[in-house]
Amino acid sequence: MLSRGRQLYRELVSIAVSEGFQLTEKALKKLEESENPVENLLRTIEELKKQAPEVPLIDVGHLKLQQTEEKPADLKLQLEAETTPLSIPKMTTVNLIEDDYRIEGEFFEFHRYFMDRYRKIRRILERRNRNYKPVAEAVAARDGEEVEIAVMVLGREERKNSLILDVEDPSGVVSVVVPVKNQQMYREACELVNDVVVGMKVRKSGDLLILREAAYPDVEERQQRSNQTNPEAYVCLISDVHVGSKNFRQDLFEKFLDWVNRGRDGVAKRITHIVIAGDLVEGVGVYPGQEKDLMIKNVEDQFKEASKLLAEIPERIEVVFSPGNHEPVRKALPQPPLQKRYRDLVNKRRLVSFVSNPANLVFDGVRILVYHGQGLDELIQSIPESSYSNLRETGPKLMSYMLKCRHLAPVYGENTQLLPMNEDRLVISETPNVFQTGHIHVVVKTNYKGAVLINSGAWQDQTEYQRSMGMEPMTGYAALYNLANHDVSFKQFGS
Ligand SMILES: [Fe+2]
Repeated sequence: MLSRGRQLYRELVSIAVSEGFQLTEKALKKLEESENPVENLLRTIEELKKQAPEVPLIDVGHLKLQQTEEKPADLKLQLEAETTPLSIPKMTTVNLIEDDYRIEGEFFEFHRYFMDRYRKIRRILERRNRNYKPVAEAVAARDGEEVEIAVMVLGREERKNSLILDVEDPSGVVSVVVPVKNQQMYREACELVNDVVVGMKVRKSGDLLILREAAYPDVEERQQRSNQTNPEAYVCLISDVHVGSKNFRQDLFEKFLDWVNRGRDGVAKRITHIVIAGDLVEGVGVYPGQEKDLMIKNVEDQFKEASKLLAEIPERIEVVFSPGNHEPVRKALPQPPLQKRYRDLVNKRRLVSFVSNPANLVFDGVRILVYHGQGLDELIQSIPESSYSNLRETGPKLMSYMLKCRHLAPVYGENTQLLPMNEDRLVISETPNVFQTGHIHVVVKTNYKGAVLINSGAWQDQTEYQRSMGMEPMTGYAALYNLANHDVSFKQFGS
């Protein structure tokens, strides 16, 4: 296991690289010595991005540090926090599945489900005034004619000089050819994962259809509008606590709880909600050999222990919990809120709002899409340069890809199970202001077309299983989203 110092060093370098920057050794050292290194680095990167420097290098002079000696500012914030009245934002929840939704398990349900995915995403593509023709018409087009089609990608075959994509719409299945010599188109086509719905411009050439353009449904670019009339209120986003695991960092989580109760930086007192995006407990039987990693071997006892910790959160803060793949909830997405017997266990000590996974939380008009992130697994395997060992670098791209293809689990048929409901509620119909995931245990903070993307790290050190996959978790982080100005900062509770 890496020492904490070495781990921090790697975290800082990874974050800088994922945002397209390099750090000088001096800047690294200065950051490591600062009170809140990751937060300081993220703040520096945000400032530098505004200046669009020619050389993406971070030196000591660029650092925006919030040091311990800045106590007067802290005190000012604390004073403001104590004197400015805190208005509690009203939260409404849009659950993406009901507790009692049932399926028959018949083939037609899957067909109906994927047809709904296709129609919903096609409608989004059609908003750009494209005139999509059925693929059967593209096949019958004249030699040299260009036709636009809206299709779901079924599969691919690599040939010596080309990539063949099999695509489908309700009128049929066709093969679209992407010649390797068209380098840019070829690279783009390699990123089209299976089951994604996209628009394509194809040219008929002899018997073949050649790919000319591919268009993702994508989210609209939008500006986050500051709501300066609102006094600052913070939504705290965490995930992947893993209570019950031998590797659960209870010490760090208790530091977090202590800060929530007694933090004197002006922020803790203005937290109105804490959102937990899955894996509150470690669960049992989740992966091969998990037994030996368990400190608490029974899931009920894990929830009892978790509820003791949650009971330390002040009553004025609403705690919202959406389940993950480690919880004892049906695995197929969307997952319903935690079942009643476990809810009751938690609620005995501390009332919690239980929501589905995924769920939309709307705070006075600000939409936070909360999702544990199981669909990231398939993207890690499908997107060419990503792997479990480089999530710190590729995490932002993977999360952005979900918004780009407007789906929370774009690839079907691997690990992540999908519930074939009568409609596909994993389609991202509305662009969120904030998109929070967990599951991959690294910190991601990025911006995609105006939406803030956050992966909230973990509270569990690397397990043997994760080590075998090359996963390097980032432990002890809480994201703080300021509802008034949409700023996000990470607070680190290091050892
Ligand atoms: Fe997790």
